[in-house]
Amino acid sequence: MYKSEYGYIINFPLSDDRGKMRLLVVIPTYNEAENIEKLIPSVFEHSPPETDILVVDDNSPDGTAEIIDKLITENKAHLHIIKRPGKQGLAAAYLTAFDWGLLKDYDVFLEMDADFSHNPKYISEMVNNIQNHDVVIGSRNVKNGGIEGWSFLRNCISKGGSLYSRIILGCPIKDLTGGFNMWTSNALQKIDLHNILSKGYSFQVEMKYRAWYTGCSIIEVPILFIDRKFGTSKMSKKIFFEALINIWKIKKATGGDTTLDQFIKFFLTGGLGTITNLAIFFVSSDLLKLPEIPVAIGCFVVAGTQNYVINHKWSFANTTGSSKPSIRKWLLFLCASLTGLLVNIVIMKSLIMNFNLPYKFIAQACGIAAGMIINFIFSKFFIFRSKNCAE
Ligand code: GDD
Ligand code: MN
Repeated sequence: MYKSEYGYIINFPLSDDRGKMRLLVVIPTYNEAENIEKLIPSVFEHSPPETDILVVDDNSPDGTAEIIDKLITENKAHLHIIKRPGKQGLAAAYLTAFDWGLLKDYDVFLEMDADFSHNPKYISEMVNNIQNHDVVIGSRNVKNGGIEGWSFLRNCISKGGSLYSRIILGCPIKDLTGGFNMWTSNALQKIDLHNILSKGYSFQVEMKYRAWYTGCSIIEVPILFIDRKFGTSKMSKKIFFEALINIWKIKKATGGDTTLDQFIKFFLTGGLGTITNLAIFFVSSDLLKLPEIPVAIGCFVVAGTQNYVINHKWSFANTTGSSKPSIRKWLLFLCASLTGLLVNIVIMKSLIMNFNLPYKFIAQACGIAAGMIINFIFSKFFIFRSKNCAE
């Protein structure tokens, strides 16, 4: 019996023999009774001879663990189970398993789902590739890879999730969200598993990002992901939104924002400012019947102030650091916003005068974009520039 650092009881003793390249296949399960019995023999069949499988079950109500127990009696040496008291998420399941496997000196670890979405036939190719790389990703988003059987929506969520994560993290991996990945023990040690933030599906993104960030050699091999035939997906709205937010936390924990991150935040801040502006305008002008022009000026100042504070505290937080907002910079920011407005008007007007546009709002959209870029450049290089620069 062994108690891991994460506090879970491992109920099956392992022999301590060490082979050459020992592979541990980790399969997290929650209600996979219909799949697991067939999957285990198939994984053994496609893996090198000394491979072990470790199932991490979260007390599945459908009796998944009992099926494993039964298989263990037939296959004692190579099949293991960690039984956890309740559903604690994908990340915790994998972390417990890695912790256990590293302690047992496995050389290579493979993560895979229990529902046959990850076909065991790809294992041998992944094993070949792990000889020359730290990480092998079973990838749906490279040439010859793909997804079969997912709804259009689920496909969009997955592709969108990968793209969203790639842009925010600035990481070139094409399938960041997938869960069919092979790691050398060396890679797992580099990743610093004990500081992983994710609890749910963003775990996959975080692992890969950390591997890339720490300079692991990574290869993506194509896989065809096939939707499960039995049981149901454990993906939920909650898990999805947790993942969206986690990407930012992952980014923050490892390094500063890129210019693109800053621009996205700056853009969102501007959008919020526009809403504030319109709301005040509506109350003052429509409800209180105050004159429009002074109201518009007031709206500009209030929304501009809001933008200034949010940009200081959020969009450019990694350059402003702990410095406080100042009156001088606030005034500079309002000037930059006015300049942006001026650029907006000049571009809009000249486009309308020089081109035969079907709609004027196209000119205005170009004007807004130009104004925003000017304002961003001012903000980044002048107003919110690094605290190391002279004030
Ligand atoms: N132990 C444990 N605890 N296992 C879990 C838990 C949990 O809380 N939640 C899910 N699992 C297991 C499932 O039983 C399955 O074996 C595997 O994790 C994947 O769960 P699915 O519910 O089948 O995921 P999916 O098909 O919706 O999601 C697929 O795509 C995701 C995003 O691309 C998988 O490939 C995921 O790995 C991938 O992140
Ligand atoms: Mn699945």
